[in-house]
Amino acid sequence: MNLLHVVGTRPNFPKLAPVYRAGLAAGVSQIVVHTGQHYDDALSGSFFADLGIPQPDLNLDVGSLSHAAQTARIMERIEPVLLRERPDWLIVYGDVNSTAAAALVASKLGIRIAHVEAGLRSFDRTMPEEINRLVTDRLADLLLTPSLDASEQLRREGEPESEIVFVGNVMIDTLCYSLQAARQTGFRKSLGVGADAVAVTLHRPSNVDDTDRMRIIAQALREIAKDHPVIFPVHPRTAQRLRDNGVSFEGVRLLEPLRYMEMLDLVDGAFAVVTDSGGLQEETTALGVPCFTVRPNTERPITITEGTNQLVPDPERLPALVRSASRSATTRRPDGWDGRAAERIVEALTSR
Ligand code: UD1
Repeated sequence: MNLLHVVGTRPNFPKLAPVYRAGLAAGVSQIVVHTGQHYDDALSGSFFADLGIPQPDLNLDVGSLSHAAQTARIMERIEPVLLRERPDWLIVYGDVNSTAAAALVASKLGIRIAHVEAGLRSFDRTMPEEINRLVTDRLADLLLTPSLDASEQLRREGEPESEIVFVGNVMIDTLCYSLQAARQTGFRKSLGVGADAVAVTLHRPSNVDDTDRMRIIAQALREIAKDHPVIFPVHPRTAQRLRDNGVSFEGVRLLEPLRYMEMLDLVDGAFAVVTDSGGLQEETTALGVPCFTVRPNTERPITITEGTNQLVPDPERLPALVRSASRSATTRRPDGWDGRAAERIVEALTSR
């Protein structure tokens, strides 16, 4: 059995790591191809070191481009690799441009595709990720779902039962694997903040590319910062927008993007999280940390129905919501968020 994993962006790497390790344990041959969609050490290289997996075998160095140009360049550069390697399975992760581009090429070469994190839907096609999810799931031969509602969604879309396998959440595999080591970094304490800290991340175009909306969010964060230390590691896309539009974040601590272990320690010890990230909605649910998602919808509704997540389409409500937040003493994790999803993925791959 020969697996070829394609990854490209920050959220792909913690999903790859447990699957790669489970593949090693099962003795299958594996190649990791990085598209180069993300290239800064803080968004890419540091993750491989932190997560204890080797650096990729190959980097396609596509870099930052428009959606069409980036997708096309990934397709052009991955085609010869897939032709040369002819893997038994192409494994793609999540919903980024690298995911859909690789799937499109493999499908025309007759290479079987396994999609990790299949079946998530925001039903919002203004999000580029939703387009990537729909395309990838339509093309994939094995739909590996993180939650039972995602499997249900794929059935509703007419996917054959034989292709849908509920495996659980690989992000949570990585969280379970890394939590002790993350706590040992002492990162949150090194910032001089206690358990009242509020961690913030924002990078969705619908938030950061709209200056008026960004001003309202910044005003809300300044308000929260009167009562809590507010720690905001800034994604490069967001940093660029903030430089361009001069929005004030007085009282908020803006940081460079954090390494995986630092972010996990910060979030694990936080009072609350304000975010538009998909991964953080899941991680806060697993850790029992209140999460306020600054979006009108989520492709991960299970983090609301069974977790700690709350959608906040109107950011003016954030200060009041954070004020009334409390961390629950017990955490309830959705089915399959048990640290063993990757084992189930390798089992599903090797049994077909
Ligand atoms: C991408 C994904 C998004 C994911 C996010 C996580 C798509 C459509 N979007 O969004 O789903 O949540 O990654 O981070 O695939 N940049 C750098 N250094 C880098 C990478 C990017 O400075 O290493 C800057 C560039 O100015 C670039 C901008 O960030 O133009 C956006 O990068 P891009 O990969 O296009 O999208 P993200 O916003 O990172």
